[in-house]
Amino acid sequence: MADRERIAGAARAIREHTRPGKDRGARIVITGKGGVGKTTITALLAHLYAQKGYTTLAVDEDPQMNLPYAAGIPREESDRIVPLSKNFDYVEEKTGARPGAGWGMMLRLNPDVADVVERFGAKGPGGVNVLVMGTIEQAAGGCLCPENTLLEAVIHYVSLRKNEVILMDTPAGVEHFGRTIAKGFDQALLVTDPTFNAVQVARHAAELAKGLGIRTIWLVINRVRSENDIAKVQELMGDSMALFSGQFVLPWDESLIACEPDVRPLLDGPSPFMERLRDLQVRLENAHNDIR
Ligand SMILES: Nc1ncnc2c1ncn2[C@@H]1O[C@H](COP(=O)(O)OP(=O)(O)O)[C@@H](O)[C@H]1O
Ligand SMILES: [Mg+2]
Repeated sequence: MADRERIAGAARAIREHTRPGKDRGARIVITGKGGVGKTTITALLAHLYAQKGYTTLAVDEDPQMNLPYAAGIPREESDRIVPLSKNFDYVEEKTGARPGAGWGMMLRLNPDVADVVERFGAKGPGGVNVLVMGTIEQAAGGCLCPENTLLEAVIHYVSLRKNEVILMDTPAGVEHFGRTIAKGFDQALLVTDPTFNAVQVARHAAELAKGLGIRTIWLVINRVRSENDIAKVQELMGDSMALFSGQFVLPWDESLIACEPDVRPLLDGPSPFMERLRDLQVRLENAHNDIR
């Protein structure tokens, strides 16, 4: 059977065997153009949440799969992670189930984060767990339906407790930011830098996020070197600024490049960048508590 059919079958099986999780924890999606800082920000936020005692699941939807490295999982271990899109082979092999059917059984009714991490994820340093989606096969017309549906099923049907958070790093651009992925996410971070193209992507993604019913949408202006950079983004954004619940400015910081891909050294030292990022984490946490 073709991979795509098997993936679609797995997603169906999860939906048939489970009910949508109770939405008490936070689901946050991070998106924007390539190179604007999505992965860096996702990994840092995951660590900040984990430091506050949250059970944290960082999900890598980007086929480049660099979130595990950013979160600080050692290289050899990161390379051994079996992506979700390949896991169905493993599941079927172990359960001998007909294609797709094994997934519901594997996840039990109302799977929780620990369940998902145990079966499909990797435990990283600092209590940050990582789930990797893997290579996505793009069908004609840009539809990533089976893969997106599978990821959506796993994320949406996980029951999230009050002290649990899912942070999802997405591939560059907006074409992956479809209904299935946005489903169940309550906050979106639209990351941009002060360039025309990045702002266009963030603007388009913000409109989509709004249309998809994501309640709280934040603008994150990263790699900022001057007040002019902020003014430029706001001007390019124009009326679309109204889509955002608020904006965050993250300054340009050479030390990010010095330590990349692993973001953990940044957590130790105080820096203007980290100060702003900690503010951002607190705002996300408060926004979630307010709407719950
Ligand atoms: N504020 C910043 N100052 C300096 N470099 C940054 C900043 N934010 C991100 N970077 C660097 O930019 C590069 C791209 O960041 P990354 O998080 O991989 O972007 P994306 O995931 O959006 O493609 C990385 O090398 C990262 O260290
Ligand atoms: Mg990235």
